[in-house]
Amino acid sequence: MKKIAVFASGTGSNAGKIIEKFREHSTISVALIVCNKPGAGVLQIAERNKIPTLLIDKEKFFRGNGYVDELKQMGIDFIVLAGFLWKIPGALIKAYPKKIINIHPALLPNYGGKGMYGQFVHETVLANKEKESGITIHYVDEHYDNGDIIFQAKCEIMQNDTPGSLAERIHRLEHDWYPRIIEELLVK
Ligand code: GRF
Repeated sequence: MKKIAVFASGTGSNAGKIIEKFREHSTISVALIVCNKPGAGVLQIAERNKIPTLLIDKEKFFRGNGYVDELKQMGIDFIVLAGFLWKIPGALIKAYPKKIINIHPALLPNYGGKGMYGQFVHETVLANKEKESGITIHYVDEHYDNGDIIFQAKCEIMQNDTPGSLAERIHRLEHDWYPRIIEELLVK
């Protein structure tokens, strides 16, 4: 079994779809949800699905060794970020080379970087009168939204789109593609 840890700190809709996809999978399982926010929606999703959770502490994450010991002890092979806003420390990247991926709700390299998350991304895309947006799945390095791109999917921007309506369309793309791309990467 390849064991995934999903790092998420928000509502966790992507985490939910990933859990669903691998619930009965023969070679891949979601073994852990890592979260930095007590009360985050993703914790309830984990509980409903009986998946262990690890609530992490900022000091230990950045000044310690990025929870590498805990993750290795649990046999985690692969890390999936799904709405996790902290930068990933070097120790963790070194321990999991090319084994940490993220999803970003825009077409990188545009509309990424520090502060570019959630509604801010969609507001900026709309303000710039872009004709399309989309999702980017990429490897994680020590900079925000910077690692090699694995996959992108596009969607059209409608004339009457609001940040909310665009976010919804993008979420649908994420839910469709993220679980599938994870599977492709892990069954290789
Ligand atoms: C997604 O839009 C993802 O692209 C971004 O954070 C959001 C998480 O949403 N990195 P959810 O918590 O999975 O609903």
